[in-house]
Amino acid sequence: MSTSLTIRRPDDWHLHLRDGAMLKAVLPETARHFARAIIMPNLVPPVVRGSDAAAYRDRILAALPDGMAFEPLMTLYLTEDTDPEDVAAAHASGLVKAVKLYPAGATTNSASGVKDFDRIAPVLEKMAEIGLPLCTHGEVTAAEIDIFDREAVFIDRVLDPVRRAHPGLKVVMEHITTSQAADYVRSVDRGLGATITTHHLVINRNHILVGGIRPHYYCLPVAKREEHRLALRAAATSGDARFFLGTDSAPHPDHLKEHPCGCAGCFTATNTMSVLAEVFEQEGALDRLEAFVSLNGPGFYGLPVNEDTITLTRGDAVTYPAKIEAGGETVTVFDPGYPLHWRVDA
Ligand code: DOR
Ligand code: ZN
Repeated sequence: MSTSLTIRRPDDWHLHLRDGAMLKAVLPETARHFARAIIMPNLVPPVVRGSDAAAYRDRILAALPDGMAFEPLMTLYLTEDTDPEDVAAAHASGLVKAVKLYPAGATTNSASGVKDFDRIAPVLEKMAEIGLPLCTHGEVTAAEIDIFDREAVFIDRVLDPVRRAHPGLKVVMEHITTSQAADYVRSVDRGLGATITTHHLVINRNHILVGGIRPHYYCLPVAKREEHRLALRAAATSGDARFFLGTDSAPHPDHLKEHPCGCAGCFTATNTMSVLAEVFEQEGALDRLEAFVSLNGPGFYGLPVNEDTITLTRGDAVTYPAKIEAGGETVTVFDPGYPLHWRVDA
């Protein structure tokens, strides 16, 4: 068994950094191991215009501790009023790398998201023309659709029709949680990819609900049955270039997670690389970890891979904090439920 693994420095293709004190607290957790990340725009108010993204990027870079390198890859939050010309200008300047679609009401801070998909057709047309990817939160929100079915129904009702209407549009299905999503991505040769989170490779829905409710395992899309977790592990460890890491690391203060109406999100930035090494080792696929975390994402986005490397070393159980402190509050770090043995030397 290998005891040491050197790979190109990874990137995170789906990350929530928030703002203010929370941003300052969580940014080093990602920047320690990752060179770049696609930064989610669901702030309050959301990052809608190119000027919002430029200001947010400046705040992220200002929050970066001295001596750390990190490149935020900015996104815009798609609304029914998004101006295609503003999107095109933000892309042309190199600032914006993707546009994020939240169906209205699907998740945290998604109230300004899209209800009428016809209204975003002109933006999607422009994005197809300029080669700017659309990142989708792939869940329908219709009340009659069971929460465990919302991703699979999204594929049929929204994603497939949108892709047919805009054949040139590059699309990333974010944080996929089902075998249906993995199969759909595999059924398309070009222009469709998917991110997979760290936590969805580890937990299924039992982890959230058996033996007491575990708010720190609650996220959206919610974890599904075991068969789906296994399908995600197969996709992530396959080496297939259409699948890449997007942690969806999403910090919330503990008092809002441990709450009668707890927020959705797992905070995995701190230990993601150790967890993934453990998962890939369990699957006998350590030789494909680099593809998932460092090669496939840049390949999809048409960006260069990182030149420098990190080294993972197997040894005694690694230690990491159970919580980090953020502006006088705490944020619980994802607990995979088993010891981790891969230390990261970045
Ligand atoms: O679990 C989640 N948390 N899913 C999302 O889609 C949003 C995220 C957040 O912003 O907290
Ligand atoms: Zn997210």
